[in-house]
Amino acid sequence: MFNVAIDGPSGAGKSSVSKEAAKRMGFIHIDTGALYRSLAYSAIKNKININDEISLKNMLNMTKINIEFQDGVQNVILNGENVNDKIRTEEVSKGASDISKIPMIRAFLLDLQRDLARENNVVMDGRDIGTVVLPNADVKIFITASPEQRAERRYKELLAKGEKVVYNDILEKLIYRDHQDTHREIAPLKPCDDAVIIDTSDLDFSQSVNAVLDVIREKYND
Ligand code: DC
Repeated sequence: MFNVAIDGPSGAGKSSVSKEAAKRMGFIHIDTGALYRSLAYSAIKNKININDEISLKNMLNMTKINIEFQDGVQNVILNGENVNDKIRTEEVSKGASDISKIPMIRAFLLDLQRDLARENNVVMDGRDIGTVVLPNADVKIFITASPEQRAERRYKELLAKGEKVVYNDILEKLIYRDHQDTHREIAPLKPCDDAVIIDTSDLDFSQSVNAVLDVIREKYND
């Protein structure tokens, strides 16, 4: 199987670019952030204190996550419930960043991610795909962009959804999450030595997709 690992900070366009690149390659796209988000959603919904190890362990013992694909769209099914539309709120974003620091959570999701990559040609995106989940991936890419550019994109996305948002709040929260994601002890966000770094600050969507496809095709045609 051919595995592409794409990592990078929130809002760099990683998921949408990975999804389109996967589609053009005929691969499946796995958005691993959605897995952390669904566990955060579950903890919020069930009022679990994520710092209480026993409660969290109980929650995981009762959690079954399945991933289904419909027209190339990944659906995360959490204990039978499709949570795709519930995991994109700011509350869940913050919860996902908090919960993803916990080793038990990362271990819980590791096999699921590896199994998907073993059985399929994948473009898998996240924070630690090249470093931890798929260290032997055929292609590793690190997509980044300036915090201001990323906050601006997120701001426009939320405005388009009709949400009332303030740009500075988004920038502040994004910087907070970046700090938390890059400074945690376990699997911190960082480019691995063999990753190709793509900065999308000055690239539009289709230029970003093409930049990623160029890197993939160089290896895929070998
Ligand atoms: O990509 P995203 O914004 O949907 O990810 C949500 C959170 O999950 C993010 O704060 C970091 C965490 N995450 C992670 O720790 N490892 C991954 N492979 C993917 C996401």
